[in-house]
Amino acid sequence: MQYRIAVLPGDGIGPEVTAEGTKILDRIGRKFNHSFSYSMGAIGGNAIDSTGSALPPSTLDSARKSDAVLLGAVGGPKWDNPLASVRPEDGLLAIRKELSLFANIRPVKVFQELKEASPLKPHILEGVDFVVIRELTGGLYFGKPKRRWRTKTGKRRAIDSMAYSEEEILRVLRVGFELARGRRKHLTSVDKANVLESSRLWRELAQEIAPQYPDVELQHMLVDTAAMQLVRAPARFDVIVTENTFGDILTDEAAILTGSMGTLSSASLAGTPSSEVGAFGLYEPIHGSAPDIAGLGVANPIATILSVALLLRYSLGLEAEALAVEKAVDQALADGHRCADIVGPGETPIGTLEMGETIGSRIGP
Ligand code: IPM
Ligand code: MG
Repeated sequence: MQYRIAVLPGDGIGPEVTAEGTKILDRIGRKFNHSFSYSMGAIGGNAIDSTGSALPPSTLDSARKSDAVLLGAVGGPKWDNPLASVRPEDGLLAIRKELSLFANIRPVKVFQELKEASPLKPHILEGVDFVVIRELTGGLYFGKPKRRWRTKTGKRRAIDSMAYSEEEILRVLRVGFELARGRRKHLTSVDKANVLESSRLWRELAQEIAPQYPDVELQHMLVDTAAMQLVRAPARFDVIVTENTFGDILTDEAAILTGSMGTLSSASLAGTPSSEVGAFGLYEPIHGSAPDIAGLGVANPIATILSVALLLRYSLGLEAEALAVEKAVDQALADGHRCADIVGPGETPIGTLEMGETIGSRIGP
């Protein structure tokens, strides 16, 4: 089959890691007889510099014409002025909204070999393997009113709104139930229903549709409790589904379980994934642009490579190909290969290119 992938390298280490991602796709193409073509697009800070917009129309256009999008990262100190009228992050938020990528899937799996890299005690990390589904196009990030003004007394005031419609909540809850169905059949819906109106609606809707998924056990958990349980007993989670901002915070916390953000992938989908038909999606490592190490060739490409696996699985419906990528990563780690972010005492780290090559060679020529 022939597939068209929009590649948006972005800023910082984005170009280095996405380059390793497309090399992995090429290897998968050779091994499984697919052909991947890439259309490159600008997003984030470099797009602001070259076009004035964090998401130029041409980028959006090429994303719309593709089967899936592979993104690196956006942002950096150069564009950090809080008063700037346009910021790199605007590009990310805009592409999520424009492409209706409402379900952000972030798998958290602790690699046996990397347990030592986490600040948590190894026994807590035993058996950790869960997925967080973060609602991505609504809630506190996008709700209106959202603005800042001066009151009559000249004091500054600002407002953001955690707003949700029934449809927005239902579609992301369904992704949660569906994914749980294909896993250990346990869904934790995270909210703040003891305080927030939008959370009470969220919980009510989860309860309403639960009977449609009798094989899935639904549990409700308050977000503060979830933050605590994630470090106390993370192995108990299977699938977590939650609001945009709650998900943003909890996924950074969850990343620490694995020791490094350098290994965590994500998928942002415009539909419910099913094994036959893929959902359109955008795939990105969750580590961000890491400006401190940009251009040094030391960034860990594993998060991007695992995002490529998710792309194969969720958008192209190529499960065997996805597994081949994941297995190659497992093997490279088992054989002791480490980038600087996950290197143990006495081990010698390898660079971005070497890690890409090491993983790639385990897939095929
Ligand atoms: C993430 C990031 C983004 C977010 C930023 C860069 C806007 O933190 O993808 O988690 O908050 O969604
Ligand atoms: Mg975040």
